Formats: sequence, structure tokens, C-alpha cells
Amino acid sequence: MKVMAVLGSPIKDGNSGILAQKFLDKAVAAGAATSSFFLEGMNYKGCKACGGCKSGSDKCVIKDDLAEVLDEMHKSDIIVYATPNYFGDVSGQFKLFLDRTFSLLTPSFMSGPKKSRLAMGKKLVFILSQGAPEQAFTDILTRYAHLRDYFEFAEFHPIHAGNLMENGAVKNRPELLAKVEKLAEQLTKS
Ligand SMILES: Cc1cc2nc3c(=O)[nH]c(=O)nc-3n(C[C@H](O)[C@H](O)[C@H](O)COP(=O)(O)O)c2cc1C
Repeated sequence: MKVMAVLGSPIKDGNSGILAQKFLDKAVAAGAATSSFFLEGMNYKGCKACGGCKSGSDKCVIKDDLAEVLDEMHKSDIIVYATPNYFGDVSGQFKLFLDRTFSLLTPSFMSGPKKSRLAMGKKLVFILSQGAPEQAFTDILTRYAHLRDYFEFAEFHPIHAGNLMENGAVKNRPELLAKVEKLAEQLTKS
């Protein structure tokens, strides 16, 4: 089993990153191979809407650091997205990445029947950390739940982690760490 994480915070060991790493650690313990991509440390641009991935190429034609991340998505059984809430949405770094995943949709994704170039059966975990309590900004994960349909993920597991304004505050939130670990155990069970 392969598990990958895409880290959208500019802080490497920030709250969302710590939670993603917890997930990966549990996956390793269950025998999975893992990889992690820290977007802030990479050179990449957003989607240019060039249409190259819909005519002529079956992958993104932009040759930058995201090429490896997009390839890894094909190889991974579980994909973990982790991002802070920035002004009621994902981070800018994460959104640029997400727009590039447009290349993983087929040319006929609007009409179907096969929308995604990703193989069936993959699971998506979406970790969102924020300063406000988790009762606030509930629309964010609800909005991004549509990724499940576009990319034909078999499962979508949102983790909304609130009251995490300070850097690293999640280290003092055993219930959140345990929630992520439990989910990792559940999803990596064969
Ligand atoms: C530019 C910026 C915008 C933010 N906007 C919000 C926000 O709208 N709502 C919120 O609850 N927290 C907001 N925060 C706080 C972060 O979401 C919070 O600190 C989060 O836990 C950081 O995660 P990280 O350590 O993984 O980067 C913001 C922080 C920054 C730096």
C-alpha cells in the first residue's frame, strides 16, 4: 500500500503538517510506503488553462516540481491533503496545486462516464487546521467534498481541526492526534 501527503502550509511542522505526519507514521506502522510533498519548498505554478491535458497529452504539460506529485497520485492508494484555513479557504500554495490536478480529469469529465484518470478505489483524507473553533468555517470541507466525485475517490475523510491558532498547538491536542491515528489505522487495514 502507498500513502502520500500533500502539505499546503508554508510551515513545515505546522499544525496541518503534524497531523498529516501522524497519519503517515501510522501508515508506515501498518506496512505502507509513504511519501510527502511540502509545497512551499517546491517550484510550481498554477494551472494555465492551456488545455494541453485535454487534447494531445494525458497529463499536465507544465514541466515543474508538481509533475512528480501528480505522478505519485497515480501510484498512491491513500492521498492525504493537509492545509491551513487561510481566510476561509485552503492556503494559496494548496490551491495552486489543486488547480493543477485538473490534468487528472479526462477530456470527457463533464459528461462522463469516466471522469478521472486516477484508478478507482483511492481514498482521500482532507485535513484542515484553523485558529477558529471547528464549528466555524464548516463550509470549507463541505465545498471540497466535491473532489470525491470529480476524481472518483472511493472514500472522502475530512478532518477539521479547530482552535489551533498557535504554531504547533496541535501537539497539545491528544484527541486530534488520536483521531488522525485512528483513521490511519482504519484506512490502512487490509
Ligand atoms: C494568512 C493567514 C490567514 C488565516 N486565516 C484564518 C481564517 O480565516 N480562519 C481561521 O480560523 N484561522 C485562520 N488562520 C490561522 C490558521 O488557519 C491556523 O493557525 C492554522 O492552524 C495554521 O495551520 P498550519 O500550522 O498547518 O499552517 C490564518 C492564518 C494565516 C497566516
